[in-house]
Amino acid sequence: MELPPRPKLFDFHGVSMIHHFTDNWENIRNFQARPDDILIATYPKAGTTWVSYILDLLYFGQTAPERQTSLPIYERVPFLESDFHIIPPGTELADKLSTSPRLIKTHLPVQLVPKSFWEQNCRIVYVARNAKDNAVSYFHFDRMNQAHPEPGDWNNYLQRFMDGKMVFGSWYDHVTGWWERKQTHSKLHYVFYEDMVEDTRRELDRLCSFLGLSPSAEEKERVRGGVQFDTMKKNSMANYSTIPIMDIKISPFMRKGKVGDWKNHFTVAQSEQFDEDFKKKMKNTTVQFRTVV
Ligand code: A3P
Repeated sequence: MELPPRPKLFDFHGVSMIHHFTDNWENIRNFQARPDDILIATYPKAGTTWVSYILDLLYFGQTAPERQTSLPIYERVPFLESDFHIIPPGTELADKLSTSPRLIKTHLPVQLVPKSFWEQNCRIVYVARNAKDNAVSYFHFDRMNQAHPEPGDWNNYLQRFMDGKMVFGSWYDHVTGWWERKQTHSKLHYVFYEDMVEDTRRELDRLCSFLGLSPSAEEKERVRGGVQFDTMKKNSMANYSTIPIMDIKISPFMRKGKVGDWKNHFTVAQSEQFDEDFKKKMKNTTVQFRTVV
């Protein structure tokens, strides 16, 4: 299959974007959420697939076991704004879902989320990851993902990350924008990737309490086992090995799954410059990140 050329970044309502996420904009803007929809929102590479898999197992692991072997995660949890032309656009996939609840994924910054999600007062799970690991993970993802612009070399990439010239815009605006929304939208559960790595059981409990679910201890252990990094890495329904635009030989989608891998990429000078810039950009927010656990 011939792959399309890599897309270019452009400004879309003040956010850097590529056409794959704006081509279908009218349908995205007018998307009709249902009150029991659960929106999984993240900046790319913050742990979207991990949380998506957890939610899928919690809701459908027992009632629809065939999903586990036959449906890749991107079909179970449609990517709302996506329009890659190789599978139907995310809005169409979501409209066709017959499950209740529907699990829907988005990387949109909070101000671009279709208004029906707020009108319907949907539950939202937002996952955030520390900026340094997030940038490293995104760099490797952009290397292997033909649907994103060429990453170039790491030094330039890091500068672009700091400048917010990434697909879905600035990490800083994304994590703080969603954090602020949490103050007014009580049905928003803000999860940190680092907390999930540190204690998946505890985070699973918090998630269940937010969702109003009370699985048995045995079921929770089954979910936890199914979403361990090594298990998901081997699982072709979770590891994106079935999507032609991603070349997992360049870099696997399930790459390392660690906190602190940034230390293998940042030079001391890059780290210091990044930290200094970070302080300035994040001075008006109360959200706190950990770069080690
Ligand atoms: P790394 O590139 O650092 O390994 P997303 O799903 O938002 O695209 O995020 C992908 C990142 O989450 C990748 O990070 C991936 O390895 C990590 N990830 C996916 N599943 C995971 C799991 N079960 N445990 C820990 N990390 C996981």
